[in-house]
Formats: sequence, C-alpha cells, structure tokens
Amino acid sequence: MAFPESFLQELKLRNDITEVVSSYVNLKRSGRNMVGLCPFHGEKTPSFNVYTENGSFYCFGCGAGGDVITFIMKIENLDYVDAVKHLAQRAGLELPEHSYDDSMSRLRTRVYEANREAARYYYSSLYSEKGKAALGYLHSRALTDRTIRSFGLGYADGDWTSLCKHLRSKGFKDSELVAANLAVRRKNGNGIYDRFTDRVMFPIIDLRGNVIAFGGRIMTNEKPKYLNTSDTPVFKKSANLFSLNKAKNSGTRTLLLCEGYMDVIAVCQAGFTNAVATLGTALTTEQAMLIKRYADEVIICYDADEAGQKATARAIPILRNAGLLIRVLTIPSGKDPDEFIRSHGDDGPAAFKAVIEKSGNDIEYRLQKLRGLNNIETTDGKLAYLEQAAKIVAGISSPIERDLYSSKICSELGIDKNAFKQQIARINKKQYRENSKKEARKIQADLSGRNDKINTEHYQKPRSSKAEEELVVYLVNNPDSAEEISSRISPEQFQNSLIRRYYEYFLGRIQNGYDPLTNVSADFSQNEVSKLYQLLSQSVRAASTHSAMMEYINVIKEESQKLTSKEVEEMSPQQLSDYLDKIRKNKQ
Ligand code: UTP
Ligand code: MN
Repeated sequence: MAFPESFLQELKLRNDITEVVSSYVNLKRSGRNMVGLCPFHGEKTPSFNVYTENGSFYCFGCGAGGDVITFIMKIENLDYVDAVKHLAQRAGLELPEHSYDDSMSRLRTRVYEANREAARYYYSSLYSEKGKAALGYLHSRALTDRTIRSFGLGYADGDWTSLCKHLRSKGFKDSELVAANLAVRRKNGNGIYDRFTDRVMFPIIDLRGNVIAFGGRIMTNEKPKYLNTSDTPVFKKSANLFSLNKAKNSGTRTLLLCEGYMDVIAVCQAGFTNAVATLGTALTTEQAMLIKRYADEVIICYDADEAGQKATARAIPILRNAGLLIRVLTIPSGKDPDEFIRSHGDDGPAAFKAVIEKSGNDIEYRLQKLRGLNNIETTDGKLAYLEQAAKIVAGISSPIERDLYSSKICSELGIDKNAFKQQIARINKKQYRENSKKEARKIQADLSGRNDKINTEHYQKPRSSKAEEELVVYLVNNPDSAEEISSRISPEQFQNSLIRRYYEYFLGRIQNGYDPLTNVSADFSQNEVSKLYQLLSQSVRAASTHSAMMEYINVIKEESQKLTSKEVEEMSPQQLSDYLDKIRKNKQ
C-alpha cells in the first residue's frame, strides 16, 4: 500500500523543493526558475533547473528529473519509502502508521543493525584471546589502539559460524544475515556460514554513521588479500568512499584520495584526517560527485607503482569533470602512503606533509610524465614532447594558466614561445571544430529522439508521439480538461506505449479526484519519472492552449487510423473502401 495522498501533499508542501535542493546545490535565480550545477553529472555551466511552481527539477544535461522525493532518492541513494521518511523527518512530520509497504525499508534497518552488531562483535574479538594474532598484526603495521578504536577495526575469527551464532542469539534471522552479506548460504541449502573468516576487519561507515559494509584483510599472502561486502540493500560499492564520514568533518575542503583502507588509516593516524579511498574499484563519477559535495580540491595519493599511475591517469578526467581542482602526489621510491609514512618512523607525519606540499597540479603531473617518456636531448624526442605538451596545455581553460605553462615549457626547452602558442591555437581550432560537429550530431540525435533510451518508441513514431506527449502535458497542467479530453480520445488510440501509460495513469488520478503528480515517484521507475519531468519542463516554455489541445487530439486520431502496410495487404477491397469512408467522415 502507498502513503495516503493527504500525507504526501503535506510532505511536499513542507519540503519546498528549492529549499531542499539548496542544501546540496548552489542555486541562482534565472527568470521564473532556479538553476545550478547538476549534482548528478559533472558540468561547468548550469543546466540543472528547479521549478518552484510545480515542485520539480530537471537537468537538461543528463536528463535527471522528478519531484522532491525523486531528488532525495537520487542524491541520498535511498529507496522511495526511505526518501519519504527522510523528508518527513526533515519537516517534523509524523509518518502515518502501517499505511505503506515498508518491507524493504524494514529489511534495510535490520541490515544496518546486523552490521553494527557485527562490527561490535569483531571489535571485541580483536581484543579477546582468539584475536591476539590479529591485534599483533595491526600493531606490527604501526597502528595504535587509539586508531584501531577510532576506525572500529576488528577480527573475524577462523571458526566458520561464530558470527552467525552470535547474531542469531541477538535475534537476527538467517535471511537478514544473508541480505547483509555477513553470511552466505551453503551450496547444499543447509543453513548458512560466516562470509568473513580469519581476517582483520575494516567497517565502512556512511555519512549518517551507519555501518554499511566491511572489508576484510587476510594476514598471510593468500588471495584474495581483501574481501569486501558485495552490494546489498544498504551498500553500493560504486557510490561510497571509505572514511568519508571522518573526512567530511576534517575542517578542510581538500580531500586526500587514497587507494586502500590501510593508506587512509595510516595517513589519518599521521594527522591528516581528510583522507578517503575507493572500495577496491576504479573511481566512479558518482564518487567524484560525492566528493564535490564536501571538497573543492582532491590530492590523488595513489601508489607509485604502475597500477597506481594508471589509476591516477583514469581518475584525473573524472575528478576534473566533477569540477574539482586536482593535485597529484608523487611518493618517492615506489611506496604507498602507508609504507612511506611508516618508513620515516617518528618523522612520518612531517615527511608526508612535505610530499603533500610538493605535489603539483594535474597539468604539472601530466607534463612531468610526458618528460619521462621522451628523451628531449634528441630532436625527435623534443618534437614528440612538444607536440603532446601542446595538447595538454591546449586543454587548459584559463588563458593565464595556459600562458604560464607555455612560458615554462618554452624556456625549459629553449624554443620560441610564439611558435608554441601558434601550435596551441591550431589544436584549439581543430578541437573547436570537432566539438561543434559532435554537438551538432548530438543535438540532431536528441531532436530525432534517437538517443532516447526510455521513450524508445518516440523515434519510431515521431508524429503521433509528439502529439501524445503534448496532450499528456496539457492534461497534467489542466486537470479540469480531463473530462473533455477523455471523451474525445481513448488510451487505445495512443501509439506510444509509455505515453499511453502516462495518459491512463493521469486520467485515472484526476477522475478519482487526486492531484496528478503527487505519487509519480512511487508509481513509475526513476527513469520514467525523469522522462515525464523532461516533457513537463520542456513545455513550461511553450504554454498550451485549448486549440493546441484540439490539434494534438486530431493528430493522435489521424495517426491511430493509419494502417501498416501489412494490414493493408491483408484487407479485402470492401474493407479497404469502408476504411477510407471512415477516414473521410472523421475529417469533416
Ligand atoms: P593494495 O593491494 O594496494 O593493498 O589494494 P593495500 O591498500 O596496500 O593494502 P595492504 O597495505 O597490503 O594491507 C588497494 C585496495 O584495493 C582493494 C582494497 O580496497 C585495498 O585497500 N583490494 C585490493 C581489494 O578489494 N581486494 C584485493 O584483493 C586487493
Ligand atoms: Mn599497502
């Protein structure tokens, strides 16, 4: 069952979309709307619109759209019921009891509770007799008891069922432990066993302080070195960062991006509490957007080995697209931050600070890499270096910065700056032409609907789809026209099945006395909601009139009568003549 309409209306009334969005996005007024940089994709010019009038948002860049509930679902990574709960709490509203299906929400709560209890259990095991070796291992890696406590590290013992037993005794069901990925079902179907055994445990904690997952390190050279919680109802690897809960309170807008758990912990113990790490995967756009909420600058602190350097090269454009400033730390002698700090003993913190201060921005880093690849003592090497350096410099958007690097490179190599600048201008011109072409192609594709992954039928039937879309928008904006519209056109006459679903849905709601949009985020998928708000936001610009509505209806009728060539083939002469008669009558 869904939430009562009156409750949802109250919820939306008390959670003004502009206010809610403003706590995540810096909004500026633009005509009747508010605009800002989209929190769901990286962009430099704002295409994220908030429409106060109808309580919705839509991004013309990435196509995300919806109401205030959809917004919270997306930005907080919550399901529908939890997003509603979140907004209710924000506005100080009581939730109506037992009126909604919250089985998923209840399961999530149980998973959080099981994780918290597991973290406690692992921690106490670490300091018990059986955890001696594990504690010794952590101490041997120079972690203090204070650090261990602060990160809530623990130990999963070597017995295959001890966590399951413990959590059962605390009232957890097997199904809940499996959902949390703390336990795994036996292949033969007989019961469950612990997912983590004989490993040092690292809890992963989200921004609200919930334990959402674990990483477990084996203490020998066996593989896999780290075992991580798979995705669960409360955990999505690609959307979380280790230790962001601590780093966001570090009092700086600079984050240190590390490769792993141990690096973050060592760096933190050395006094830099603004460290985070991805969770065993390459950095994602989602993570970069998350970082952007808490930082303006990222210092990449990946390992000095080849894999680390490759990961750095991959991370740079992702972070840059999210609008972050980037610096890259180069750790001398092929170590990771943890090893580097440890190798300096008591001077570790000071030594690490010095490396941070020496870290250059990503342009310097890329130029330096390039220098390493080309022997600039030879003419060929010099030319190759210059050609690629010009490409890097051409990509810088600030003219002052561009000039600065040009000067630096030219004086280093003893060449004429004008020639270098001409080369850059040529690259920029070519790039500009290519971009314009690409953009034109994209606009064309967008217009034809070829890029539309949700409303796929639009492209196949553009004329009828356009009219059907406009009619649905008109209906939503003019609910009192529902009776007239429904008397003139029935859902079966719609050619586009998605738009037909919208039409039937809104007609039903209006005829039952409901506001059309209140419940869309529960009744449609997120993509379908986005699509709907795209249609709505496009027509905010072109107000519809009654005569336009009649025109849409005519087009829909006309198109619905068109026969496919196969149908025509199969008709008898009599049927065909009847059909033509019918069309002629309709036109009068
Ligand atoms: P590394 O192999 O660089 O390990 O993996 P590390 O962080 O230096 O760990 P220690 O110092 O040997 O203990 C970096 C990160 O990649 C993920 C983990 O998140 C790890 O912290 N990883 C690595 C896995 O998820 N699974 C693995 O088997 C290995
Ligand atoms: Mn390491």
